[in-house]
Amino acid sequence: MPTIKINDLHFHYKENEPIFKGLNFVLDSRSTAIIGQNGAGKTTFVKLLKGLLRPGKGSIYFNGKNIADMTVAQIAKHIGLVFQNPNDQIFKNKVIDEVMFGPLNIGMNNDEALKHSLAALKLVGLSNTVNCNPYDMGLSERKLIAIASILAMDTDVVIFDEPTIAQDYNAKEKIKSIIHQLNIKGKLVLTIIHDMDFVAECFERTIVFANGAILLDGPTADVFSHKDELKMAYLEPPHVTQLCNSLGYDKVFLSVDSFVNYIKN
Ligand SMILES: Nc1ncnc2c1ncn2[C@@H]1O[C@H](COP(=O)(O)OP(=O)(O)O)[C@@H](O)[C@H]1O
Ligand SMILES: [Mg+2]
Repeated sequence: MPTIKINDLHFHYKENEPIFKGLNFVLDSRSTAIIGQNGAGKTTFVKLLKGLLRPGKGSIYFNGKNIADMTVAQIAKHIGLVFQNPNDQIFKNKVIDEVMFGPLNIGMNNDEALKHSLAALKLVGLSNTVNCNPYDMGLSERKLIAIASILAMDTDVVIFDEPTIAQDYNAKEKIKSIIHQLNIKGKLVLTIIHDMDFVAECFERTIVFANGAILLDGPTADVFSHKDELKMAYLEPPHVTQLCNSLGYDKVFLSVDSFVNYIKN
């Protein structure tokens, strides 16, 4: 099982304006969401993991190896990132060319790249689009193509940046099931996101970034029980949690189903 260890991570863009003031945590097999208000440093953190930015002080270890000793290309073989906006990622006119680009780029041969690409398209439910032009497809399907392009690289770590933005109910359900299947496959799945309802439904562990530090970190239901801290970080609990709260229940519910089951029993 892959691990990422963050050790005393400091980072700033401008002197005296720290973005991270010594982060320490380990990412493991638990599917994890990182939340935090706009500007909390979520995207910066992902860029540090990808080696696109380098820490001011402290280190990031991937499976025990300091990524400071790896090139961006070497890191890309292990850590895949699905962009927030598929239009920033997609650039080929044929789905199969788009999906095979990443695998070929990290050194897979054609047969291997094709095999992984077809498997990835199957996983996202778009096997029938191999010869389509991504630009003729809707935004939800383009998002799934962007996801398939990363999955085809078969990296140990898969990071999603705001996967649910501009996605309808069906696409969100699809993305939820993809994340679940990656988890079962033993991938390290990390998601930076501000959609609290999706966090509640999908992630085992939630980490809250605020003021350059970790404000909360734990099982998602525990994190959403800290109403005052969340308010300090300008975050609101998921809608179902808030609803059950206003109905007078202190227990944190992360889904309507769990609430209904609780009432029934
Ligand atoms: N290239 C940059 N140069 C200077 N400041 C930046 C740059 N990118 C982001 N920032 C600042 O760093 C902070 C964290 O940004 P970001 O990581 O994008 O946060 P988030 O993804 O949580 O919204 C913000 O205050 C943002 O304005
Ligand atoms: Mg961001």
